[in-house]
Amino acid sequence: MREEVLSLLITAAGGVYVDATLGGGGHAESILQRLDPTGKLVGIDADLDAIHVATEKLSRYRDRFVTVHDNFRNLSSALSQRGFNQASGILFDLGVSSYQLDERSKGFSFRSDDRLDMRMDRTQALDAHEVVNRYTERKLADLFWRYGEEKKSRAVARAIVHRRSASPIDTTGELAAIVRGVVGDRFPVKSLARVFQAIRIEVNDELESLRRGLEQAITVLTSGGRLVVISYHSLEDRIVKEAFRNAAASVKRSGSRLLPDAQVQPRIKLLMKKPMQTSEEEVQENPRARGAKLRAAEKL
Ligand SMILES: C[S@@+](CC[C@H](N)C(=O)[O-])C[C@H]1O[C@@H](n2cnc3c(N)ncnc32)[C@H](O)[C@@H]1O
Repeated sequence: MREEVLSLLITAAGGVYVDATLGGGGHAESILQRLDPTGKLVGIDADLDAIHVATEKLSRYRDRFVTVHDNFRNLSSALSQRGFNQASGILFDLGVSSYQLDERSKGFSFRSDDRLDMRMDRTQALDAHEVVNRYTERKLADLFWRYGEEKKSRAVARAIVHRRSASPIDTTGELAAIVRGVVGDRFPVKSLARVFQAIRIEVNDELESLRRGLEQAITVLTSGGRLVVISYHSLEDRIVKEAFRNAAASVKRSGSRLLPDAQVQPRIKLLMKKPMQTSEEEVQENPRARGAKLRAAEKL
């Protein structure tokens, strides 16, 4: 999808662009290669390690590449504090990076056995250890259901609370064993992915950050500027779809009901009706791209 991202995102080679999810700097590098020497890129990431890695990797662009360690929910202030009031294009490539999944000290993955953590931003207090060991059974069940769409949410929550009454659940491996104990050993991976995803979303408040980040992105885009979002699961995509639909609407609605005096000025136009999806070939090259959906819009 790299080529599609670049051609949708970049409309003016001398503009100011924002990579709101800098990660390992892969997209950032391609964007910088496409910009001319007057173009600028601001790279944001909540993870300080990502900022360090990308700064190092892209050091040759240092006069036109600015990094910001922040959550994209603060996108407008992060930009204005650095003297950028508008942007010609903003990219969100959501979720966690391969680096974060593979880096064992970050405690994201059910495939290894590390301390439960899952914070993108190590400066925040709430981590996965606290969620798993302190949340009530009801809150856990609700979390697994809402953020993981896990059918056995209640049974998994019950098993966690039962197990932690004996001793704290400290590692990803211990948590994975509890989930396996509930869902059985035949097809555990989907349930493991759903439960771990739910905890990660809670720890990083991912869905609310996304709502706020998208709203601010639409506001700071210059007329004709582009917003490109790649999401990896249905909860994210639903939020993107809704934010785009609301900003593109010429009438205000509450659910399916039209509100009185409903006429509003649309703020964006959608560049595609249906999201673009990863091809089978791309998934074979990069299995983590499975299920990725790309949506794009242009500011009016
Ligand atoms: C899928 S990776 C991005 C990979 C990047 N596009 C590349 O080409 O290397 C997502 C990155 O976004 C960051 N991230 C996720 N949610 C964030 C948020 N709310 N605010 C800031 N960064 C966030 C993660 O820390 C991670 O580094």
